[in-house]
Amino acid sequence: MSNDSFVASSKNASVEKGEFTWEAPSNIALVKYWGKLENQIPANPSVSFTLSNCKTTTTLKFVKASEYSLFNQVKFDVYFEGQQKDSFKPKIADFFERIYKYCPYLDSYEFEIHSENSFPHSSGIASSASGMSALALGIMSLEKELNPEMDDDYFYKKSSFLARLGSGSACRSVQGNLVVWGQHAEIERSSNEYGIAYPYQIHPVFTDFQDTILLVDKGQKQVSSTVGHNLMKGHPFAEARFSQAHDNLKNLIPVFENGDLDKFIEIVEREALTLHGMMMSSSPYFMLMKPNTLAIINKIWEKRAVSKIPVCFTLDAGANVHMLYPSQNKTEILEFIKNELVGYCENGHYICDEVGEGSKLL
Ligand code: DP6
Repeated sequence: MSNDSFVASSKNASVEKGEFTWEAPSNIALVKYWGKLENQIPANPSVSFTLSNCKTTTTLKFVKASEYSLFNQVKFDVYFEGQQKDSFKPKIADFFERIYKYCPYLDSYEFEIHSENSFPHSSGIASSASGMSALALGIMSLEKELNPEMDDDYFYKKSSFLARLGSGSACRSVQGNLVVWGQHAEIERSSNEYGIAYPYQIHPVFTDFQDTILLVDKGQKQVSSTVGHNLMKGHPFAEARFSQAHDNLKNLIPVFENGDLDKFIEIVEREALTLHGMMMSSSPYFMLMKPNTLAIINKIWEKRAVSKIPVCFTLDAGANVHMLYPSQNKTEILEFIKNELVGYCENGHYICDEVGEGSKLL
């Protein structure tokens, strides 16, 4: 599907007013997106588990504007957890600007965006994936009112496409428990433009995999993902890294099917450490892991060696550790966290999550 197929056909604004509430989850990448080209096109394909408990709920209210706004100027107000939040406006204004070409009806409306997260704002968990995805879905619900013939396939593809323009990883928070974004030679229908539900067989062990997020550092990151992505331009290891991501995704295909957890662990942990290795070898270099991140990783390795439980870790662009393990090991791993890992978490905080099914219209 080309870009042009996502341009809404007319400036039809026949609906007077309404509102939609969508819930969209966060996701955790197994093969990481790190590095991008123009227009949020990923430099390599990625795959993620959709989460279940960490989510954003967004109500998009719209009313026909009394007179058309300036071309390309979308009028909106943002409320976060009940409070008007003007500090969120520039990022959303930027998003509206990027998607305006595909949604030309937007400047015929005035919007109120009411958002809340299921996780604390200052938990170090990025809300851009769930937030942008929930907002994109609300916009698509409006578009569907304007064009009731739209089918579900187009609805979800374009939602993911719009979410991507807000934040790359957000396109993986729309549909499916395992989501691929970025063209890959061995994954049919994979696309750089939007995420797709992983199209092949998935072993049952992965359908309720656990992700316990150990909150090592709840503060604001010193380097944003956007800056980090940019540092992949001209990075001396970039090409090798991009090709490794293709290989890792290819090697995960049989793993997803047969549930080989040893192989899964090897690929997923290597991906996490490579991501941080890229950061540490960028120019300028930076480091997002903290001493407690490393302490937890070592504890996980020890635990795995002694108990033989297939528990592993992954990291996103921050210090927090995502512990991944099968649901059948939940009791023992939660005991392990309580007894040996909470001391490394800021204020002893961690969040229990697991693989989920994607967004929901409330
Ligand atoms: C390390 O999607 O947050 O979590 O497209 O600039 O908004 P932007 O970046 P973002 O990058 C996520 C990076 C990552 C890896 C991943 O989720 O694949």
